[in-house]
Amino acid sequence: MTSKMIAGEPILFLRTKTNQVVALRDICPHRGIPLSCGLLLDTGEVECCYHGWRFNQEGHCTRIPSLTKDQDFDLSRIRVRTYPCLEKSGGIWIFMGDEKNAALVPFSYLPEAIPSKPSLKLRMIFPCSVDHAVVGLMDPAHGPFIHQSWFWRNKNVLHEKQKTFEPTPLGFKMVRHAPSKNGRAYKILGPSPQTEISFMLPGVRLETISALKKTIWGLTTITPITETTSEIHHLMYWKFRGLSIFKPLIYLLAKTFLKQDQRAITLQQKGLAFNPSLLLINDADTQAKWYYKIKKGYKDARDQKIPFVNPLKSCILKWMS
Ligand code: FES
Ligand SMILES: [Fe+2]
Repeated sequence: MTSKMIAGEPILFLRTKTNQVVALRDICPHRGIPLSCGLLLDTGEVECCYHGWRFNQEGHCTRIPSLTKDQDFDLSRIRVRTYPCLEKSGGIWIFMGDEKNAALVPFSYLPEAIPSKPSLKLRMIFPCSVDHAVVGLMDPAHGPFIHQSWFWRNKNVLHEKQKTFEPTPLGFKMVRHAPSKNGRAYKILGPSPQTEISFMLPGVRLETISALKKTIWGLTTITPITETTSEIHHLMYWKFRGLSIFKPLIYLLAKTFLKQDQRAITLQQKGLAFNPSLLLINDADTQAKWYYKIKKGYKDARDQKIPFVNPLKSCILKWMS
């Protein structure tokens, strides 16, 4: 079992004998000690380290050792909160909202074709809110400045970009297009590679690059840890062997990029500490505007208990980068 903070809540993750992942609130309802300080028993129950109360994987209390035989106590009154979760393609998706709404949420965003194990995984902590992490990672105008390097980009050579976007059920996507000159490396997949980038609430970016019958998927997820800390996972998937020899290089490049973003976000906090009003301009920041718009729209729909209808429309965005 392992404990992890998500959205300000301590969560205990367990793996059952049938290899299912279960998530419980990592706080003993008796006197508050983390359940993760206790034991995972062969029965699949968790035993609290303080007074030995036990909880099953549905969160129900199954044993209170201090009760005497003649003390009639209804254990079913005691329950630890559980969270619906699903393990897929090397990641665990957890639903933190009201459990009653869990069925309404598309749990896994991944296309069926994605392999069950990622070929490459990266994790990084950004010292910022989930909003700034999402906006920072989807922002198309920072590339030439934050990611400049002799072999990749130069801030003095900007190109005009023009991309078509379409709404999706929970977000939007940059429709399939040939990658720009910076994406020359995609040719490794074969002639005429195409890329599609989609963003989905709450903070999921999926890039699909394909040519002929070869496909690479790049999945980036942004998880709020606290109000001021976000966890970034970047997972890449491919099925063909040829690319695996480049894995150390791809890992190094991906890590370098993510570290550059992390550095920018870290510096940004110095200014954000003064709570300034910020500017989002067209078209470079339009995706950021969309993010805030659909996030609010989704929350409003949930509050009113009506289905979320994406208000975005198809359009073309242009920017220099
Ligand atoms: S605090 Fe967990 S059993 Fe008492
Ligand atoms: Fe970036």
